[in-house]
Amino acid sequence: MLIANWKMNKDFDEVTAWLRDFKGLLGEQQVENKLAICPPALYLKMLREQLPSWIKLGAQNCAAQVSGAYTGEISPQMLHSLRIDLTLVGHSERRQGFGEDNAVVAAKVKNALGAGLQVVLCVGETLEVREANRALDFVSGQIDDALAGLDPQQQSNIIIAYEPIWAIGTGLVPSMPQLQEMFSGLQQHYGYNKFLYGGSVNAKNITEILSIGEIAGALVGGASLKADEFAEMFRQYIQLR
Ligand code: PGA
Repeated sequence: MLIANWKMNKDFDEVTAWLRDFKGLLGEQQVENKLAICPPALYLKMLREQLPSWIKLGAQNCAAQVSGAYTGEISPQMLHSLRIDLTLVGHSERRQGFGEDNAVVAAKVKNALGAGLQVVLCVGETLEVREANRALDFVSGQIDDALAGLDPQQQSNIIIAYEPIWAIGTGLVPSMPQLQEMFSGLQQHYGYNKFLYGGSVNAKNITEILSIGEIAGALVGGASLKADEFAEMFRQYIQLR
């Protein structure tokens, strides 16, 4: 899957323009289970109404609780009731900027799966951890904590996005050997092949990144904000996966 993460970007007019341009660029094609967009939550309903159902929609975050006195939060049950397909959980910007530790992430994963959403679990190490040669251990620890207590059926509804923190929004991408090592290690350890890469993916490097067979797709921040670049990335993506 190729997933756009707009983060906290775009006002209403910009969303309208992006939708118009992107729909024009996609044309009539229909490719199930390959494309998802995660806009800020307040645009989700509009995108659900204006995009065809083969394009999945996701939230960037969700609550760990079902309902109640949690001012400002949005539950996965609410998202599901609007036909939203998935949610990101544990993005490093939430872990670092909003104090979400592995326990909070695990509670959100469980709640989202319970609500019937697919979960895109985001994991990734800091530069310090990478330089200490502990990246795979660190990332495996994040995954183990998030998956603890989930049965295989629940786990099958999780996609894991490996996003090294030092590669997000920086223009830096791990070297091909670093990516190969990480994704082979993850696949050996977890035995399934739903791993995405995220961190400075764009139309110029996506084909090279996807030359690593263990990478099933990409989570794209900055480059997804431009309709023409993201449509071009999708074109390259579906040629390869
Ligand atoms: P980036 O962000 O593509 O702008 O590096 C990726 C992400 O944070 O998901």
